[in-house]
Amino acid sequence: MARNVVIVGAQWGDEGKGKVVDIFTENADIVVRFQGGNNAGHTVIVGEEKYVFHLLPSGILHPGKTCVIGDGVVVDPEVLLNEIEVLKKKNIFRPEDLLISKNAHLIMPYHKKLDVARERLRGTNKIGTTGRGIGPAYEDKVSRCGIKCGDLLNEEDFRLKLKANLMEKNHYFKTVLHEEGFEIHEIYHKYMTMAQSIGPLIKNTSKFLAKAIEFKRNILFEGAQGTLLDVDHGTYPFVTSSNTVAGEAATGSGIGPSRIDTVIGITKAYCTRVGEGPFPSELQGEEADKLREQGGEYGATTGRPRRCGWFDAVALRYASRINGLDGLVVTKLDVLDNQDKVNICTGYKYNGDVIDEFPTEASILSRCEPVYETMDGWKSPTHGVKSFDKLPKKAQAYIRRIEEITGVEAIMISVGANRKDSIIIKNPFK
Ligand code: GDP
Ligand code: IMO
Ligand code: MG
Repeated sequence: MARNVVIVGAQWGDEGKGKVVDIFTENADIVVRFQGGNNAGHTVIVGEEKYVFHLLPSGILHPGKTCVIGDGVVVDPEVLLNEIEVLKKKNIFRPEDLLISKNAHLIMPYHKKLDVARERLRGTNKIGTTGRGIGPAYEDKVSRCGIKCGDLLNEEDFRLKLKANLMEKNHYFKTVLHEEGFEIHEIYHKYMTMAQSIGPLIKNTSKFLAKAIEFKRNILFEGAQGTLLDVDHGTYPFVTSSNTVAGEAATGSGIGPSRIDTVIGITKAYCTRVGEGPFPSELQGEEADKLREQGGEYGATTGRPRRCGWFDAVALRYASRINGLDGLVVTKLDVLDNQDKVNICTGYKYNGDVIDEFPTEASILSRCEPVYETMDGWKSPTHGVKSFDKLPKKAQAYIRRIEEITGVEAIMISVGANRKDSIIIKNPFK
């Protein structure tokens, strides 16, 4: 029986989705990115080689599997071509294995400039975006003036849409920001040149997926960012500009929700966040530095140091509800190997009460104090361990407690960055 599995980040992104998608691609025929853009940085490490994917689905290393950039993604063609180029040099890229939706919107040079300018204008209220033009590209999509990948296939259409956009954007750049605007010819020629390379990959991917479902192929849907960065369900306004939750796997790839069988959430054994916004279990000072160094917590896209803190079960329970999680992958357990004690945040102190429901209002969440349950650290290496039973007993107890408090069973434990450092308890495709 075919299975269609969605993988989403259950925290604030960077949970290790790339690694997990790469592993389960083994059992899939097709891997689909369905939202976000090159704000994502998904790391896959195989042997000595490290790859960071921003737009290419993390299944791309597996020959013969089709990778799809779906309708809900925003595509910066320059970044995509660079990623393809890197793989070509390693003799890994096969054009027949990649499809790009004609409906996916393009990130244009003015989107990147707007993203950076808006952040500057926000000053101390900035969101801490990746500066990749993600927000402005989604804004144009929703305000119905965006340019789609499919438009690259029609030069005249593309030119007219670009012209209409530049009239408005250049006016804003000049009169509001007092900055230079963009020349239509430059952008037009650049994008038309890129269209020659990626044009043949642009297809009706929703139709392709419908056929694949009909022929009982296994599909793996790869989420980007994380639940708490979702534009509707995250810690608004400190979020990204797309829906990052499991429901988007259907809309963002043009399949019906009834075709999804299983939803898996990825969580670190602790918590991180990049950019601004509330983070109740955040650590400061030496404790934070220790986790950051042990976990190599620096952004895969921007290189920014990630904010680090303890595992937040309140947030995870919320993520479970919003996504309908069927299983959990706990990554980076090895990072906690030499902690004397480990904490799990089980509730928040707010206005004199203890609450156990995750408030998405930034004003409330920023005033929540974590309530911790403390467990003994295991103080022995988990890296290299191949089965759950062989993990140190106290590490097993930590995982069991996470399952108990969040109500979701762990289907895989990751104990190192490499593909081989994975303990699979239950394969979602089987
Ligand atoms: P993604 O955005 O969810 O794909 O995650 P990122 O790639 O941005 O960040 C995860 C980081 O943790 C990467 O550097 C991975 O190589 C690394 N990583 C993933 N799983 C593990 C693990 O179990 N242990 C350790 N030590 N590192 C891991
Ligand atoms: P992956 O897929 C972590 C964060 C940014 C910022 C906010 C808005 O690798 O997990 P944006 O550029 O999207 O407008 O920024 O979202 N952010 C991420 N944080 N991992 C990501 O992706 C992220 N993508 C965006 O840091 O706070
Ligand atoms: Mg990442």
